[in-house]
Amino acid sequence: MVYLSKKSEKNICKFRGQVSREQREALNGHRSAVFWFTGLSGSGKSTIAHAVEKHLHDRGIRSYVFDGDNVRHGLCGDLSFSPVARSENNRRIAEVCKLFADSGTACLCAFISPYAEDRQHVRDIVGEDDFHEIYIACPVETCEERDCKGYYKLAREGKIKNYTGISAPYEEPEAPQLRVNTAGQSVEQSVGVVLEYVLGVLQPTA
Ligand SMILES: Nc1ncnc2c1ncn2[C@@H]1O[C@H](COP(=O)(O)OP(=O)(O)OP(=O)(O)O)[C@@H](O)[C@H]1O
Ligand SMILES: [Mg+2]
Repeated sequence: MVYLSKKSEKNICKFRGQVSREQREALNGHRSAVFWFTGLSGSGKSTIAHAVEKHLHDRGIRSYVFDGDNVRHGLCGDLSFSPVARSENNRRIAEVCKLFADSGTACLCAFISPYAEDRQHVRDIVGEDDFHEIYIACPVETCEERDCKGYYKLAREGKIKNYTGISAPYEEPEAPQLRVNTAGQSVEQSVGVVLEYVLGVLQPTA
Protein backbone atom coordinates (compact mmCIF):
# COMPACT_ATOMS: atom_id res chain seq x y z
CA MET A 1 0.00 0.00 0.00
CA VAL A 2 1.35 3.43 -0.94
CA TYR A 3 0.78 5.08 2.43
CA LEU A 4 2.77 2.52 4.38
CA SER A 5 6.37 3.34 5.27
CA LYS A 6 9.17 1.48 6.95
CA LYS A 7 10.13 2.63 10.46
CA SER A 8 13.65 3.33 9.19
CA GLU A 9 12.32 5.77 6.57
CA LYS A 10 10.68 7.96 9.18
CA ASN A 11 12.22 10.94 10.87
CA ILE A 12 9.86 11.50 13.74
CA CYS A 13 10.48 12.35 17.35
CA LYS A 14 7.97 12.60 20.17
CA PHE A 15 7.00 15.97 21.58
CA ARG A 16 6.81 15.96 25.36
CA GLY A 17 3.57 17.56 26.53
CA GLN A 18 3.18 19.59 29.69
CA VAL A 19 0.25 17.64 31.12
CA SER A 20 0.88 14.09 32.30
CA ARG A 21 -1.53 11.19 32.41
CA GLU A 22 -1.35 11.30 36.21
CA GLN A 23 -2.45 14.93 36.15
CA ARG A 24 -5.36 14.11 33.84
CA GLU A 25 -6.37 11.25 36.13
CA ALA A 26 -6.17 13.56 39.14
CA LEU A 27 -8.37 16.10 37.33
CA ASN A 28 -10.90 13.35 36.54
CA GLY A 29 -10.79 11.92 40.05
CA HIS A 30 -10.31 8.37 38.76
CA ARG A 31 -7.72 6.24 37.03
CA SER A 32 -7.94 4.99 33.45
CA ALA A 33 -7.38 1.51 32.00
CA VAL A 34 -8.30 -0.75 29.11
CA PHE A 35 -10.89 -3.47 29.75
CA TRP A 36 -10.84 -6.03 26.97
CA PHE A 37 -14.05 -8.09 26.73
CA THR A 38 -13.50 -11.29 24.78
CA GLY A 39 -15.95 -14.11 24.10
CA LEU A 40 -18.11 -15.78 21.49
CA SER A 41 -20.60 -13.83 19.42
CA GLY A 42 -23.77 -13.52 21.50
CA SER A 43 -21.97 -14.15 24.79
CA GLY A 44 -22.90 -10.65 26.01
CA LYS A 45 -19.83 -8.45 25.46
CA SER A 46 -21.69 -5.46 23.98
CA THR A 47 -24.65 -5.74 26.34
CA ILE A 48 -22.39 -5.69 29.39
CA ALA A 49 -19.86 -3.14 28.09
CA HIS A 50 -22.56 -0.58 27.22
CA ALA A 51 -24.41 -1.09 30.49
CA VAL A 52 -21.17 -0.64 32.43
CA GLU A 53 -20.42 2.53 30.43
CA LYS A 54 -23.83 3.93 31.42
CA HIS A 55 -23.20 3.19 35.11
CA LEU A 56 -19.76 4.80 34.93
CA HIS A 57 -21.09 7.84 33.09
CA ASP A 58 -23.80 8.31 35.70
CA ARG A 59 -21.07 8.32 38.37
CA GLY A 60 -19.05 10.95 36.52
CA ILE A 61 -16.40 8.51 35.30
CA ARG A 62 -15.05 9.08 31.80
CA SER A 63 -15.38 5.94 29.70
CA TYR A 64 -15.86 4.88 26.12
CA VAL A 65 -16.97 1.65 24.45
CA PHE A 66 -15.07 0.34 21.46
CA ASP A 67 -17.38 -2.14 19.82
CA GLY A 68 -16.35 -4.62 17.14
CA ASP A 69 -18.99 -3.75 14.56
CA ASN A 70 -18.68 0.00 15.08
CA VAL A 71 -14.94 0.30 14.46
CA ARG A 72 -15.35 -1.71 11.28
CA HIS A 73 -17.41 1.19 9.91
CA GLY A 74 -14.76 3.85 10.31
CA LEU A 75 -11.30 3.35 11.79
CA CYS A 76 -10.97 -0.13 10.30
CA GLY A 77 -13.48 0.21 7.47
CA ASP A 78 -10.78 -0.52 4.88
CA LEU A 79 -9.85 -3.90 6.39
CA SER A 80 -11.03 -7.35 5.35
CA PHE A 81 -11.37 -10.37 7.65
CA SER A 82 -8.19 -12.11 6.50
CA PRO A 83 -5.72 -13.08 9.26
CA VAL A 84 -3.39 -10.18 8.35
CA ALA A 85 -6.28 -7.71 8.30
CA ARG A 86 -7.57 -9.02 11.64
CA SER A 87 -4.23 -8.37 13.25
CA GLU A 88 -4.09 -4.88 11.73
CA ASN A 89 -7.62 -4.33 13.07
CA ASN A 90 -6.40 -5.30 16.55
CA ARG A 91 -3.26 -3.18 16.28
CA ARG A 92 -5.22 -0.04 15.39
CA ILE A 93 -7.75 -0.56 18.18
CA ALA A 94 -4.97 -1.21 20.68
CA GLU A 95 -3.11 1.97 19.66
CA VAL A 96 -6.29 4.04 19.92
CA CYS A 97 -7.08 2.55 23.34
CA LYS A 98 -3.57 3.39 24.48
CA LEU A 99 -4.17 7.03 23.52
CA PHE A 100 -7.57 7.05 25.23
CA ALA A 101 -6.07 5.57 28.41
CA ASP A 102 -3.37 8.24 28.30
CA SER A 103 -6.12 10.85 27.98
CA GLY A 104 -7.61 9.54 31.23
CA THR A 105 -10.54 7.66 29.71
CA ALA A 106 -11.49 4.11 30.68
CA CYS A 107 -11.82 1.97 27.55
CA LEU A 108 -14.38 -0.83 27.38
CA CYS A 109 -13.54 -2.94 24.34
CA ALA A 110 -15.99 -5.53 23.05
CA PHE A 111 -14.32 -7.76 20.48
CA ILE A 112 -14.67 -11.50 19.95
CA SER A 113 -10.88 -11.57 19.55
CA PRO A 114 -10.76 -15.38 19.34
CA TYR A 115 -7.00 -15.81 19.14
CA ALA A 116 -4.80 -15.72 22.24
CA GLU A 117 -1.89 -14.39 20.20
CA ASP A 118 -3.90 -11.38 18.99
CA ARG A 119 -5.03 -10.60 22.53
CA GLN A 120 -1.41 -10.83 23.64
CA HIS A 121 -0.45 -8.27 20.95
CA VAL A 122 -3.05 -5.89 22.32
CA ARG A 123 -1.69 -6.47 25.83
CA ASP A 124 1.84 -5.74 24.55
CA ILE A 125 0.78 -2.46 22.93
CA VAL A 126 -1.44 -1.24 25.77
CA GLY A 127 0.94 -2.39 28.49
CA GLU A 128 0.61 -5.07 31.15
CA ASP A 129 -0.54 -2.69 33.91
CA ASP A 130 -3.33 -1.13 31.87
CA PHE A 131 -4.69 -4.21 30.15
CA HIS A 132 -7.51 -6.12 31.86
CA GLU A 133 -8.83 -9.18 30.10
CA ILE A 134 -12.49 -9.89 30.85
CA TYR A 135 -13.68 -13.22 29.58
CA ILE A 136 -17.39 -13.19 28.82
CA ALA A 137 -17.91 -16.93 28.88
CA CYS A 138 -20.99 -18.65 27.51
CA PRO A 139 -21.43 -22.12 25.96
CA VAL A 140 -21.71 -21.98 22.19
CA GLU A 141 -25.08 -23.78 22.42
CA THR A 142 -26.51 -20.88 24.45
CA CYS A 143 -25.01 -18.29 22.11
CA GLU A 144 -26.54 -20.17 19.22
CA GLU A 145 -29.95 -20.23 20.90
CA ARG A 146 -29.69 -16.46 21.43
CA ASP A 147 -28.46 -15.94 17.84
CA CYS A 148 -29.07 -12.19 18.17
CA LYS A 149 -27.72 -11.41 14.70
CA GLY A 150 -28.89 -14.57 12.92
CA TYR A 151 -25.27 -15.37 12.00
CA TYR A 152 -25.10 -18.76 13.76
CA LYS A 153 -27.92 -20.01 11.54
CA LEU A 154 -26.10 -18.77 8.44
CA ALA A 155 -22.85 -20.33 9.69
CA ARG A 156 -24.59 -23.70 10.23
CA GLU A 157 -25.95 -23.47 6.69
CA GLY A 158 -22.43 -22.80 5.46
CA LYS A 159 -23.41 -19.35 4.22
CA ILE A 160 -20.84 -17.71 6.49
CA LYS A 161 -17.41 -19.35 6.45
CA ASN A 162 -14.90 -19.40 9.30
CA TYR A 163 -17.45 -18.50 11.93
CA THR A 164 -16.02 -18.46 15.47
CA GLY A 165 -17.38 -21.32 17.58
CA ILE A 166 -18.86 -23.14 14.57
CA SER A 167 -16.24 -23.42 11.85
CA ALA A 168 -13.38 -21.43 13.38
CA PRO A 169 -11.79 -21.79 16.81
CA TYR A 170 -12.22 -19.66 19.90
CA GLU A 171 -9.18 -19.87 22.17
CA GLU A 172 -10.31 -19.38 25.75
CA PRO A 173 -8.22 -17.00 27.87
CA GLU A 174 -6.04 -19.02 30.24
CA ALA A 175 -5.74 -16.48 33.00
CA PRO A 176 -8.18 -13.61 32.48
CA GLN A 177 -8.39 -10.93 35.16
CA LEU A 178 -12.12 -11.62 35.34
CA ARG A 179 -14.34 -14.40 34.03
CA VAL A 180 -18.10 -14.02 33.88
CA ASN A 181 -20.39 -16.83 32.78
CA THR A 182 -23.49 -15.23 31.30
CA ALA A 183 -25.42 -18.49 30.83
CA GLY A 184 -28.01 -18.79 33.56
CA GLN A 185 -27.21 -15.34 34.90
CA SER A 186 -29.32 -12.22 34.40
CA VAL A 187 -27.87 -9.27 32.49
CA GLU A 188 -28.05 -7.24 35.72
CA GLN A 189 -26.03 -9.86 37.62
CA SER A 190 -23.31 -10.00 34.98
CA VAL A 191 -23.16 -6.22 34.71
CA GLY A 192 -22.90 -5.99 38.50
CA VAL A 193 -19.91 -8.34 38.63
CA VAL A 194 -18.07 -6.51 35.85
CA LEU A 195 -18.92 -3.07 37.24
CA GLU A 196 -17.51 -3.99 40.65
CA TYR A 197 -14.25 -5.11 39.07
CA VAL A 198 -13.99 -2.04 36.83
CA LEU A 199 -14.69 0.37 39.68
CA GLY A 200 -11.98 -1.29 41.75
CA VAL A 201 -9.41 -0.72 39.01
CA LEU A 202 -10.46 2.88 38.35
CA GLN A 203 -10.35 3.90 42.00
CA PRO A 204 -8.00 6.85 42.43
CA THR A 205 -4.69 6.03 44.06
CA ALA A 206 -4.39 7.53 47.53
N1 LIG B 1 -26.11 -12.48 31.73
C1 LIG B 1 -26.14 -11.92 30.51
N2 LIG B 1 -25.22 -10.99 30.17
C2 LIG B 1 -25.21 -10.42 28.95
N3 LIG B 1 -26.12 -10.71 27.97
C3 LIG B 1 -27.08 -11.63 28.26
C4 LIG B 1 -27.11 -12.26 29.53
N4 LIG B 1 -28.17 -13.14 29.52
C5 LIG B 1 -28.75 -13.03 28.32
N5 LIG B 1 -28.09 -12.11 27.54
C6 LIG B 1 -28.50 -11.75 26.17
O1 LIG B 1 -27.49 -12.24 25.29
C7 LIG B 1 -27.37 -11.36 24.18
C8 LIG B 1 -25.91 -10.92 24.06
O2 LIG B 1 -25.76 -10.15 22.89
P1 LIG B 1 -24.54 -9.18 22.64
O3 LIG B 1 -24.85 -8.41 21.40
O4 LIG B 1 -24.25 -8.41 23.86
O5 LIG B 1 -23.37 -10.21 22.38
P2 LIG B 1 -21.88 -9.93 21.88
O6 LIG B 1 -21.00 -10.78 22.71
O7 LIG B 1 -21.62 -8.47 21.85
O8 LIG B 1 -21.91 -10.53 20.41
P3 LIG B 1 -21.08 -10.05 19.09
O9 LIG B 1 -19.68 -10.54 19.24
O10 LIG B 1 -21.78 -10.73 17.96
O11 LIG B 1 -21.17 -8.55 18.97
C9 LIG B 1 -28.34 -10.20 24.42
O12 LIG B 1 -29.54 -10.45 23.73
C10 LIG B 1 -28.55 -10.26 25.93
O13 LIG B 1 -29.80 -9.74 26.32
MG1 LIG C 1 -21.13 -7.12 20.30
